[in-house]
Amino acid sequence: MKKGQLLYEGKAKKIWESEDPGLLIAQFKDDLTAFDAQKRSHATGKGALNCKISAKLFELLQDQGIPTHYVRCLGDNEMVIKRAQMIPIEVVVRNIAAGSLSRRLGIPEGKRLPFALVEFYYKNDELHDPLINDEHALMLDLVPHEGDLEELRRLGREVNVVLKSFFDKANLLLVDFKLEFGRLEDGTIVLADEISPDSCRFWDKESGERLDKDLFRHDLGDVKVAYEEVLRRIQGVMGE
Ligand code: TMP
Ligand code: ASP
Repeated sequence: MKKGQLLYEGKAKKIWESEDPGLLIAQFKDDLTAFDAQKRSHATGKGALNCKISAKLFELLQDQGIPTHYVRCLGDNEMVIKRAQMIPIEVVVRNIAAGSLSRRLGIPEGKRLPFALVEFYYKNDELHDPLINDEHALMLDLVPHEGDLEELRRLGREVNVVLKSFFDKANLLLVDFKLEFGRLEDGTIVLADEISPDSCRFWDKESGERLDKDLFRHDLGDVKVAYEEVLRRIQGVMGE
């Protein structure tokens, strides 16, 4: 499948048109950014790792009945995806306190939460992706119906159930993660964007070692080595 016009370039991906109007090509970049791209770097091969990890996780979720935009891999760092209208909400699901939750509410990092916490953030770089509630989302017209927010929350929780037990088998704690959703032409809400160590926190169950983008955010170690380890463990659980 050949790439057409470049539709969008974000911090970690480029989205291209394809020969098929219903399908796009997502190209995963080697760039690393954090803190609203104030911190930047590059790791050759990172894009390919995130592409492979995302593909495996989309396949896993699709098998469990969760609709995604994923169609198939295309080369090392590209995947074919369904064209969808992106919903500008970042859905964060948390099992263990870390990052901004710990900072905002003073919950010690590493504390297990009594239930999976779902949060909505308004995807807007200029405003630094602020935390919002349902009424903000409706006021800003981020979704047309209140029921869509319930659907995002339900899908977030379902993804969490599947991923938490999957990563448990990979000896990883799924601390938290961020999801993005899109709407297909027929109105179906599908999981989109990526699920990778750029968008999740993974801690080794025994050592507590971080195997995600926090390594880059806080200069704690080699991102590529960690992402390779995450892919290796995913493949191990999938029996590959
Ligand atoms: P936070 O603790 O910084 O709010 O992050 C929660 C989760 O969301 C964490 O797994 C990292 C992910 N995340 C993104 O994927 N993109 C972002 O822009 C931010 C702020 C967090
Ligand atoms: N949205 C952030 C950025 O890439 C991600 C982060 O802070 O981790 O700038």
